[in-house]
Amino acid sequence: MNLMNDLSVSDPEIFNVLTQEIKRQENGVEMIASENFVSKAVLDAMGTPHTNKYSEGYPNKRYYGGNEFIDISEDLARERAKKLFGADHANVQPHAGSQANMEAYFAILELKDKILGMKLDHGGHLTHGSNVNFSGKFYDFSGYGVDEDTHTLNMDDVRREAERVKPKLLLSGFSAYPRKLDFKEFGEIAKDVGAYHMSDIAHIAGIIAAKLHENPIPHCDIVTTTTHKTLRGPRGAMILCREEDQFNPEDKKNLAQKIDSAVFPGMQGGPLDHVIAAKAVAFKEALQPDFVGYQDQVLKNAKVLASTLMDNGVDLVTGGTDNHLVLVDLSNKGIGGKVAEKALEDVHIYTNKNMIPFDERSPFDPSGIRLGTPALTTRGLKEEHMKVIGECIAKTLDNPTEDSIKTKIKAEIEELVRDFPMYPGFKIVG
Ligand SMILES: Cc1ncc(COP(=O)(O)O)c(C=O)c1O
Repeated sequence: MNLMNDLSVSDPEIFNVLTQEIKRQENGVEMIASENFVSKAVLDAMGTPHTNKYSEGYPNKRYYGGNEFIDISEDLARERAKKLFGADHANVQPHAGSQANMEAYFAILELKDKILGMKLDHGGHLTHGSNVNFSGKFYDFSGYGVDEDTHTLNMDDVRREAERVKPKLLLSGFSAYPRKLDFKEFGEIAKDVGAYHMSDIAHIAGIIAAKLHENPIPHCDIVTTTTHKTLRGPRGAMILCREEDQFNPEDKKNLAQKIDSAVFPGMQGGPLDHVIAAKAVAFKEALQPDFVGYQDQVLKNAKVLASTLMDNGVDLVTGGTDNHLVLVDLSNKGIGGKVAEKALEDVHIYTNKNMIPFDERSPFDPSGIRLGTPALTTRGLKEEHMKVIGECIAKTLDNPTEDSIKTKIKAEIEELVRDFPMYPGFKIVG
């Protein structure tokens, strides 16, 4: 695979930064739980003349001519997405997870309607009601949280909160919660309080596709997800839903039509056709049997990472993990997330600072960091490598300002990843 042959001549400045970024990704360990490395096939699909096309609308119902082949890509992406999750309907056009959530809310809610979602400092996402985000400004959000002792979700508490708030929408899903979700119970609570149930499975979509986590589809009206996290597709999102709007069966539009209208013309103009083609490629990959093996390894790696960290004096929220991420509680280390993230970056371990439940620090320098195994697993790292990385993380957190120690750890990390090229055969030509 040759990369960017012409770009080095036409735009050496951009060629250079792209090259530097590839080297940074290759020479470090990528532990940001929301990141992954797409396949070469997905990269190939993205870098195609599909990007040249305007195709507002949907297959066979476009506002522009010349969409006969674009229609085929989008239909393939929609059909594969439906098959992967067992959904009635798929809209693969959302440019990003945040827009997918906005579009889903717009499809079924009026401004200022009540939504109940997971509190942000307990694991929820910005689009689940942050007051600096459209969600918190446009809707009346309330939050359910984790149990004060176990830091896990107690479904009796969620039910009590739902009965108190009586939301029009009950939202499940998270950005930082290391345990499984009980979608069936969320669905029952929503039914009992007369709410729609929507799940934002951005983080765990790949694990669900591999059937290693309960599928929310049978228990939800709407499911949104990004396509670039555990699902290992291009940056973007999609919305899956039932055909029927259970609360408004007489409406002219059913739920699937309402979702499609909210995406276009409601929120977006032309879809990113090159990205939709790449989504189709990623969904095909996720339908293959080896995708299950990949997700299984993601989970095994996360478990070994968690136990290694705890064995080396690092506290974890909930004392472990059932999914692809672990949430480190730095309280016993005497440092905040900002210092920890920077110290780890110094040794080429990439993470993000993160709030932890009942955090007394600010979001800009919270008490936690979040780590994940999807990207490293894609590179081929296994349990024995997670042990080494876990020990390196623990040592770095104990010595965040000791340059001589960090230099040694960085060398160890670089040595470790050398045997795991990000794209075997990938050559930068320029
Ligand atoms: C649960 C959840 N929903 C939505 C999003 C937003 O996705 P995007 O960054 O593509 O807007 C994220 C991103 O991290 C997320 O974790």
